[in-house]
Amino acid sequence: MTHEDDRFFMRKPWVYDPSRKPPRRADADLGFNTRALHAGFKPGKDLEKFRSFVPPIVQSMTYPYERFDKIPYPVYGRTKTPTAAVLEERLASLEGGEAAVTAASGSQALFNLIFTIARPGDNVVTSLHIFGEGYKQAAAIFPERCNVEFRFVKDPASPESWDREIDRRTRLVWVETPSNPCLFVTDIAAVAEVAHAHGVPLLVDNTTATAALQKPMELGADIVLLSITKFLAGNATVLGGAIVGPEALVEDIRWNTTEFVGAIMQPFDSWMTLQFLETLSLRMERHSANAQKVAEFLAAHPKVERVNYPGLRTHPQYDLARRQMKAGGGLLSFVVRGGMKGAATVIDAFQLITHAVTFGTSRTICMHPPTITHEHMTPEERAAAGIDDGLIRLSVGLEDPDDIIRDLEQALAKL
Ligand SMILES: Cc1ncc(COP(=O)(O)O)c(C=O)c1O
Repeated sequence: MTHEDDRFFMRKPWVYDPSRKPPRRADADLGFNTRALHAGFKPGKDLEKFRSFVPPIVQSMTYPYERFDKIPYPVYGRTKTPTAAVLEERLASLEGGEAAVTAASGSQALFNLIFTIARPGDNVVTSLHIFGEGYKQAAAIFPERCNVEFRFVKDPASPESWDREIDRRTRLVWVETPSNPCLFVTDIAAVAEVAHAHGVPLLVDNTTATAALQKPMELGADIVLLSITKFLAGNATVLGGAIVGPEALVEDIRWNTTEFVGAIMQPFDSWMTLQFLETLSLRMERHSANAQKVAEFLAAHPKVERVNYPGLRTHPQYDLARRQMKAGGGLLSFVVRGGMKGAATVIDAFQLITHAVTFGTSRTICMHPPTITHEHMTPEERAAAGIDDGLIRLSVGLEDPDDIIRDLEQALAKL
């Protein structure tokens, strides 16, 4: 029995059509910075009653009926609110996509996407270069609870390796680039070509680079996953996520999944994100410049065995990163001498750098992926993904870079 078109569902399930070109966005000729400030809201005009220069926070989770038989829109805060609608339109604009739907976190956005498009017996093709909660969804939650299989390609640098795992039950190819925590860079255009040859859509997680540095949709991605929690909001005050993609997919997620299990981002968090997005490209430039300096310092340090940063010439996909990204971004990771003990010594010695779980913050923050975010990978999977025991993830903030380097220097001296 299937419930797909019956009374339970409010929208027709999305069916991927590889031949369909998304319509050109009306704001496609505006520059990125202009869209970061204007998309989704015209000061003094939209939400007219307010005549507000800043998008208003409409902190209401329900919207009254005018008449018995006229459903208001928005109707309820689980699926749509005026403030989240501005944010969704702005995110779609920045990624160059048709539409967007937010979620309470990036992990929930991923879950909602897969839950919406995959059915028992289907599969999703990805690699081990993915964030920890995504890995857990892929390795345990979806296979065990929904009978949706996830296939991790053996050699994500090779398009043939992606090609080999795709079959007629593949509903999605999912790439995270640069990846968390090892900054592996995947060739978006090459994987898009492979996926499309099989009639399968490509999802790119653009969380680490953001649209300020990388435009997956221009390279062939059909869908973009965003954790808003990271650089987009930028200072650890907001938890949120989004899926950007074809409008029919976005509305399928909103009305056939979010409507029943909720929820989109709430008005105040949406509003804060709108403020932070105004400075996204300025922040990403500075994060990248600072991270470049820090990466170069670490690469020359005798107690550091390896540095993963797409802006370093020693990065295995340096040329690809230069083609695909405007700059290296604010995230890097490095392996210190002495394995787990070495990492613990360095992390506990930091004075300016904070040890906490997240990245993309204005203040520099570090974390130990093997014991925190990626602890559920098998040792073999961690080895294949480059997550050594001595690996430290460092999200380089907006401080003066010499101060970050001084803190690293004194902490590494403790080894
Ligand atoms: C690349 C990437 N995507 C998505 C997420 C999920 O984000 P959230 O923490 O908002 O659930 C994360 C979290 O670490 C991430 O690193």
